[in-house]
Amino acid sequence: MRQWLALVALLAIAVGPSTCFQPRRIMFARCSAEEKMPRAVFMSCANRRGVCEVRIGSTHNLRAIFIPDYNSTNVDSHVRWNSWFEVPLPGQDRDACDGEIDCPVIAGEVTRFTYVLDIQEFWPRNEYPVIWTLTDRATDETLVCFKFKINIV
Ligand SMILES: *[C@@H]1O[C@H](CO)[C@@H](O)[C@H](O)[C@H]1NC(C)=O
Repeated sequence: MRQWLALVALLAIAVGPSTCFQPRRIMFARCSAEEKMPRAVFMSCANRRGVCEVRIGSTHNLRAIFIPDYNSTNVDSHVRWNSWFEVPLPGQDRDACDGEIDCPVIAGEVTRFTYVLDIQEFWPRNEYPVIWTLTDRATDETLVCFKFKINIV
């Protein structure tokens, strides 16, 4: 019985939904002329091209690669939807230095930010414009900011 359960757990890990989605480059836009944008953004989407589809109940990984202009030891990660007004993503982990980025962030060095997005049941299926900002908490300077769309299916 115990072995059988272990096998089921192993299979669940091996074929779980998040491992099915290959990361791919997604389109993004800059937030403003003053704010630095990433070199590239990758996301594990359910579809191969176009607006990134994410599935309710799945996890999707996001990775943004950028070269910051500032040093930072304390980075705030802020995600929000921008539909009629900006709505912060519920339950987000705001502390980027807690495993989402290597801290300290060094000005001029290629930096990778990674985030695991949990697409929860209560999010209505729709296309959403997303704005993501990484900010140095000490100076309030934007390290990087980007906008993209996801489609919750
Ligand atoms: C960032 O920190 C490095 C040392 O870690 C230092 O050499 C460099 O001058 C700093 N750069 C800025 C823009 O503050």
